Amino acid sequence: MIEVKNLSKSYGSVVAVSNLNFQVTPGTVTGFLGPNGAGKSTTMRMIMGIDHPTSGEALINGRPYRELAQPLRTVGALLEAKAYHPGRTAENHLLAVAAANHLPSARVKEVLEQTGLTSVAHRRAGNFSLGMSQRLGIATALLGDPEILLLDEPVNGLDPEGIQWIRSLMQSLAERGRTIFVSSHLMSEMALTASHVIVIGQGKLIADTTVDRFIADHSELRTKVRSPQIQELEALLNARNAKVNRTDPSTIEVSGMTTEQIGELASGNAITLHELSPMVASLEEVFMELTQGSVEYRATEPVGAAS
Ligand SMILES: Nc1ncnc2c1ncn2[C@@H]1O[C@H](COP(=O)(O)OP(=O)(O)O)[C@@H](O)[C@H]1O
Ligand SMILES: [Mg+2]
Repeated sequence: MIEVKNLSKSYGSVVAVSNLNFQVTPGTVTGFLGPNGAGKSTTMRMIMGIDHPTSGEALINGRPYRELAQPLRTVGALLEAKAYHPGRTAENHLLAVAAANHLPSARVKEVLEQTGLTSVAHRRAGNFSLGMSQRLGIATALLGDPEILLLDEPVNGLDPEGIQWIRSLMQSLAERGRTIFVSSHLMSEMALTASHVIVIGQGKLIADTTVDRFIADHSELRTKVRSPQIQELEALLNARNAKVNRTDPSTIEVSGMTTEQIGELASGNAITLHELSPMVASLEEVFMELTQGSVEYRATEPVGAAS
């Protein structure tokens, strides 16, 4: 179990994390979602005892990381930076970490197997592709067979097969009762991976709920309508203050009215419909809407220090 209590972190005048409170519980994959610069990596570094809070605390099983008796057996993490010596082979890197942490060297073979690195175990990690580096980072995190796993944007730079692999790894660990905390700046990724989601923007908590609830609470129902009499229908809808958006000469997208209301309005006015279908808002739309104003670096601005 991870507990974050009144957690804040400032770097000079930049407030990276602002009074965060949440818990991450065992048995589920909890997504940590926020746009770039929202404070995800900073929060994760504080949980892992790498960064020190300006105020508040981050606890693992009730203690700060540095007070854990057997840290690698309790929590494993893949953080953003590459944390291995580039000249070492994958296997030697894992053997060194195992030795330093009094973990059985037999675990090395197991995690190489588990992360699909057995065939490259004797290659220098410095020559690894991003995908292989990510796998090695995860192998390192798994070495102590920890009950808690923290992964900071693990799918970045992975090919579709690698992404699929990480998703099923996280889900199978959660099913076996482990605590999985995984960050992403993509709502669509979280929807496929996580069942619970903690959303932050500008260092502040925006939502802490199930993924299903989050989508249901924040999606606006729209209806796609296709008709040979679209102009007539559009006029009727406008008169009722519905929001109408023409997408092609015979199609509109309507919000502000239910699908049923639109159907009845059409039939009551003898308007033929060729299509009347409710549209589920895309997850990315829901997320962007909610975190708008909390996106630190927009596409038009030069890329800053956020990662
Ligand atoms: N070491 C640092 N020094 C100064 N500012 C930092 C440092 N690390 C992060 N920040 C700033 O803190 C904010 C949050 O960053 P970060 O935690 O990396 O966000 P995320 O991981 O959600 O993209 C950003 O404004 C970032 O520029
Ligand atoms: Mg980050």
